[in-house]
Amino acid sequence: MRSCTIFSVTRNALSVFYIIITAVCLLPGNVNAQDVWANADANRGWQYFGNCAACHTIGKGQRHKVGPNLFGIVGHPAGARDDYAGYTPALRNSELVWDAATLDRYLENNKLVVPGNRMACGRIPDPQIRADIITYLSLFHE
Ligand code: HEC
Repeated sequence: MRSCTIFSVTRNALSVFYIIITAVCLLPGNVNAQDVWANADANRGWQYFGNCAACHTIGKGQRHKVGPNLFGIVGHPAGARDDYAGYTPALRNSELVWDAATLDRYLENNKLVVPGNRMACGRIPDPQIRADIITYLSLFHE
């Protein structure tokens, strides 16, 4: 949880302030889903990924941490990294494929998409932040 504080409303007033500022900067006006993807920015995604990096690496061949290495994750079946031993049966048996839309729902509320999975990362309510992160993830593939 600690590592995901910028995404969840926390006791920390500074984080709340940061979320508000981020929301104001990234979402001027009424943003629909199409705009969110059209405006997605891998560079911002890289910065947000700092919060995922407590538990995940992204580079090819990097070691697993608490969570699995995420190289090639976009388009890849869920719970299917053979050399990572930490999956819950819930994720391993989910039969999901991590296309952008599924990743988007997972990052928004992972417990809803895969009940029983153990990713201790708060929800990311901001669709622009999710799109930025997924755009960054999509850069890492064969
Ligand atoms: C506190 C540790 C932690 C943080 C922070 C975290 N994750 Fe995870 N993540 C996990 C664990 C553990 C799993 C495996 C869950 C399971 O098997 O139930 C996982 C699984 C995943 C998966 C599925 C991988 C697969 O092979 O199917 C994706 C995608 C993912 N995380 C993305 C992210 C992103 C993006 C972030 C940052 C926004 C993030 N995670 C933050 C621990 C974390």
